[in-house]
Amino acid sequence: MTYKIWIQEYIKHPLALGALFPSSASLGSLMVKHIDADTIGPILELGPGTGSFTKALLRKGINENNLVLVEQSQEFVNLLKGFFPKATIVCGDVRQISQISSELGINQFDEIVSGLPLNAMGAAVRRGICNDSFSILKPRGSFVQVSYIPICSIPKNVIDNYSAEKKYCGVTLTNMPPAFVWRVTKPKRMLNDE
Ligand SMILES: C[S@@+](CC[C@H](N)C(=O)[O-])C[C@H]1O[C@@H](n2cnc3c(N)ncnc32)[C@H](O)[C@@H]1O
Repeated sequence: MTYKIWIQEYIKHPLALGALFPSSASLGSLMVKHIDADTIGPILELGPGTGSFTKALLRKGINENNLVLVEQSQEFVNLLKGFFPKATIVCGDVRQISQISSELGINQFDEIVSGLPLNAMGAAVRRGICNDSFSILKPRGSFVQVSYIPICSIPKNVIDNYSAEKKYCGVTLTNMPPAFVWRVTKPKRMLNDE
């Protein structure tokens, strides 16, 4: 059933999905490896699709009530609402993530997990989404991003802008296609903070 919806969505929006198959459980585990099970603040997932990374967060012991999922496909949103009834699930465009988070009354997220096909988006869109996401990420929180090419898709100028630290987390070959993961962590404080 999940794969049937995936294929229907892929036929409609191949670039928005970016992959012919949903993410594997091993990729999900790699994406959330760094996240502390004791995280108590909200965790934002961008482009959750069929929920492979969401399931990995729950396997880690994260409280479902703390999850905020932003997905543009109504079909995936319907599926996610069935899988994760306690999570906050928004059908929306992550290019509006600042507005979405302010409407939810959330100023800062503890962690951000992204399955967005950032490489398939234009440079300006990629930069805008990453900049806005870092602005609502708490100090010492991480933005973790999957990539289907061995290049980090979080733009260097955004990383530099936030004096953030980039770390390569590894590759999983048991995903179709093989997937690379990078994590960018915000510093404890920005240089211009009080
Ligand atoms: C590679 S898929 C994620 C796959 C997911 N990890 C899974 O296993 O199902 C990328 C997802 O990002 C969503 N997406 C793409 N652009 C988006 C946007 N601008 N706003 C919100 N969601 C978006 C797509 O609809 C798709 O569900």
